[in-house]
Amino acid sequence: MRTLLLPLRARFIAYTAVMVVTAVLLLELYFFPSPFVAIPLVLFSALALVGTVDLIQTKHAVLRNYPLTAHIRFILEEIRPEIRQYFLESEKDGTPFSRDKRAIVYQRAKQALDKRPFGTQNDVYSNGYEWLHHSMAPKAVAKEDFRIVIGGPDCAEPYAASIFNISAMSFGALSPNAVRALNIGAKKGNFAHDTGEGGYSSYHRENGGDIIWEIGSGYFSCRNEDGTFCAEKFEAGARSKQVKMVELKLSQGAKPGHGGVLPAPKVTAEIAAARGVPIGVDCVSPSRHSAFATPIELMEFVATMRRLSGGKPAGFKLCIGHPWEFLAVCKAMVETGIYPDFIVVDGKEGGTGAAPLEFTDHLGMPLREGLNFVHNALIGINARDRVKLGASGKIVSAFDIARVMALGADWCNSARGFMFALGCIQSQSCHTDRCPTGVSTQDRLRQRALVVPDKAERVFNFHRATVNALAELVAAAGLDHPTELTPAHFSRRISAHEVKMFSDLYPPLKPGELLSGTRDRRYADAWDMASAREFRAAPPAAQIAVALH
Ligand SMILES: Cc1cc2nc3c(=O)[nH]c(=O)nc-3n(C[C@H](O)[C@H](O)[C@H](O)COP(=O)(O)O)c2cc1C
Ligand code: SF4
Repeated sequence: MRTLLLPLRARFIAYTAVMVVTAVLLLELYFFPSPFVAIPLVLFSALALVGTVDLIQTKHAVLRNYPLTAHIRFILEEIRPEIRQYFLESEKDGTPFSRDKRAIVYQRAKQALDKRPFGTQNDVYSNGYEWLHHSMAPKAVAKEDFRIVIGGPDCAEPYAASIFNISAMSFGALSPNAVRALNIGAKKGNFAHDTGEGGYSSYHRENGGDIIWEIGSGYFSCRNEDGTFCAEKFEAGARSKQVKMVELKLSQGAKPGHGGVLPAPKVTAEIAAARGVPIGVDCVSPSRHSAFATPIELMEFVATMRRLSGGKPAGFKLCIGHPWEFLAVCKAMVETGIYPDFIVVDGKEGGTGAAPLEFTDHLGMPLREGLNFVHNALIGINARDRVKLGASGKIVSAFDIARVMALGADWCNSARGFMFALGCIQSQSCHTDRCPTGVSTQDRLRQRALVVPDKAERVFNFHRATVNALAELVAAAGLDHPTELTPAHFSRRISAHEVKMFSDLYPPLKPGELLSGTRDRRYADAWDMASAREFRAAPPAAQIAVALH
């Protein structure tokens, strides 16, 4: 009896109804043939077929239990992000970037009105609220395009970089049109475009905008057949006039310590040519480098990159992990006398084309802690004046730039900010090759959505308007240049009735303090553990002493 009543159960009723209507229509067509019956019959037969497949398939439990109706659930799941974004999200909602943050980029990129009426929507009494101190004697707003010179004493061709540049994003992660538009925008605005680790492609070269050539563990565009680093190929690319700096990627905040695979079907002829790998074969970025294995070898490799490039600024990018490993690199700098011209610190909050959830959510140090740690470590070995620091991690507004410059950055990079300028709507389907805006897809039809001249202009506008906004902020703080910003210029609310200045929250090290033996708990043990000869930590002297007794 129960089985007989099954078709009348609520969860089967839609399927039962479709089957009944299909049968009725079939009979009607048999006795009274007419197109008015045939058309609905086709429709209902299709639904009946779908429902029957749902019932007998074995992959989706919910479809077996709710034939036909469960598809509504799948459709809603599919459009959930859009529903949230379009109907439910407030100005401060939305992750990783709030609607407000995205809007400011769109407005600046389109040269639309970027002002806000009526007052802040932030709760200025909530924990974590931060502000920049203004001056009673503001300066005139600078007209200059803020630049900083990157290149230490060993560098033959220092680069005068904008303080706001396009962060590393590979061709492959980005479409050819996206790479073109970024590079044209960079050329027009006189700022730099980082290639990302996916190679120095023809799309980067076409328009002549300043390039920072990044190489990762796959050594794309400069690799031997076995995947090792090829000095000749690197030299040929790095000597190009367009390349202004060369950068070694050690890690990125969104997936530190994780390699990557571009699956075989995505390794098109174009990508294969850019990377120097075979077409249609999985393209692997190992999680570790083969060109060096110790901190000293890392420094020697940076020196090799500088030499092969003809003396251009050479540096590395990383997200801070074990503190003693970065201090080991500092010891290697001191021991070898080889210093990078720059270091880019990427924050845990950084973006990626694709990464495992555990890596994006829980591995790596957030930008402000990582940046301040590196800044202080370099002060502690008396190297801060010769090594410039870049910073990346959710930097899209002038305030974001000012804040990290106060914590030690000399310049900033933005990846997703420039993606928004290209039209990215944060649909977060970059990894599916179904990017709706043509920014991150290799699908030729979808790429057409991104019209290069229009988006290049937006990239240029976003950069210019953001630097202009920074000039206004800096002037309001009574300063001439953003490099004058210090931790004493910012405060953070840490409880309902307590506020601390950044200078209290991020206490500095004294020049040379690591070399002379610091007692600062943030550094002392890690410094003892660090060795220039290996990344793996040696136990601190204190622990050895305890073990010996
Ligand atoms: C689509 C995409 C691709 C990226 N590819 C690279 C890469 O090839 N090399 C790299 O060092 N970082 C890469 N990154 C990280 C960015 O350069 C940047 O460090 C990080 O996203 C933080 O900046 P953001 O918060 O402005 O996006 C990528 C980020 C995105 C979003
Ligand atoms: S629109 Fe969506 S898929 Fe395209 S780049 Fe932006 S987040 Fe990625």
